[in-house]
Amino acid sequence: MTTTTPASLAGFSTRAIHHGYDPADHQGALVPPIHTSATFAFPDVAYGARCFAGQEPGYFYTRIANPTLALLEARLASLEQGAGAVVFGSGMGAVTATLWSLLEPGDEIVADLTLYGCTFSFLHHGLARFGVQVRHADLTDPAALATAIGPRTRVVYLETPANPNMRLVDIAAVAAAAHAQGAKVVVDNTYCTPYLQQPLVLGADVSLHSMTKYLGGHGDLTAGAAVFADPELAQRVRLYGLKDMTGAVMSAHDAHLVMRGLKTLALRMDRHCQSAQALAELIAAHPAAAAVHYPGLPGFAQHALARRQMRQMGGMIAFELHGGLEAGVRFMDALQLVTRAVSLGDAETLAQHPASMTHSTYTPEQRAAHGIAEGLVRLSVGLEDLADLRADIVQALDQAHALALSLGGALPRAAAAAAPSCSAPA
Ligand SMILES: Cc1ncc(COP(=O)(O)O)c(C=O)c1O
Repeated sequence: MTTTTPASLAGFSTRAIHHGYDPADHQGALVPPIHTSATFAFPDVAYGARCFAGQEPGYFYTRIANPTLALLEARLASLEQGAGAVVFGSGMGAVTATLWSLLEPGDEIVADLTLYGCTFSFLHHGLARFGVQVRHADLTDPAALATAIGPRTRVVYLETPANPNMRLVDIAAVAAAAHAQGAKVVVDNTYCTPYLQQPLVLGADVSLHSMTKYLGGHGDLTAGAAVFADPELAQRVRLYGLKDMTGAVMSAHDAHLVMRGLKTLALRMDRHCQSAQALAELIAAHPAAAAVHYPGLPGFAQHALARRQMRQMGGMIAFELHGGLEAGVRFMDALQLVTRAVSLGDAETLAQHPASMTHSTYTPEQRAAHGIAEGLVRLSVGLEDLADLRADIVQALDQAHALALSLGGALPRAAAAAAPSCSAPA
């Protein structure tokens, strides 16, 4: 740290750039070195044995710890105001290693209704096969948690905003209810990043990230992270979930890229949020729109919660068009600048169709029960010039609107900024 401000007191971007590193310790190198070594030499056998016994803090094998990964972990812990962090080779590595470490056969996990498709798949096709009871509850209603939680509930799991339909969960309320029953709260904070939302400060026990998204920020790596309020839990996930159960180790090269991404995280998120707000308003005002789910729209059902819990409203938008699935497909196929691709948080604006892509791991019946409309379109707003994005989106909406008119005649007035769609579980 080269500034005179103590690292622990510095602002978010200062910590994202400097935390945990002093060039003076590395021959003046401004950028931290990338330690590619898989293994580390022991001065003697006794030292090596103490490392394996956990009696020495030294590095000995990269699947357990590595200096480049450790620097990234320290920065993430600082940005989330956590006590420790562990990084992984993918977001799913973080999700699975954390849950394998927290749950045993006979235990129960209560998860929100709407989850990223592969997380949903892991719960139902992974954990459930090994004797963990998976239960869903509508966590947008804290009273629902009180009913769902039982004596075997060890984990309450949620995303907020949820991928893909943007439902929000009140983290502080859920944490209070879960802790009263002795359950841990795990929040997937991928959509927000620690710049927009800090689940641990709100009472959660673990904040998870797919760093493939905003933290990396450039679509050129896959990585994940788990940040913990309790350092002992961090150590358990490292030595069990990472070392033994998943082996989902992150590469030091990718850690270097994530640290480069972190340097511009706040700047990028400011721009993502500003452009998303403008585009959400534009889509909501277009006659093609049937419903727009974006926390920054005043008519969004959980707008007040968003303002309380998030610094800004994020870079993700979900919407439904009149004419349903066909209109949504026409919109996406008509896009010329916006790229049809899954993933999110990149410089490029990306559009995808959750029902046939990221959330095709749900059956159609499950999507209906979990609030994922078949015609929902998901937009990850990038960093291009807003005027160019506007022009592309308007021409694609015009085409979708023309199709909807030809399909169904007169359309109802656009229900812009409607409440997030979510039916009760079937
Ligand atoms: C909210 C969320 N969590 C976790 C993941 C999994 O991350 P990864 O693809 O890096 O494994 C994703 C991926 O899209 C995601 O959107």
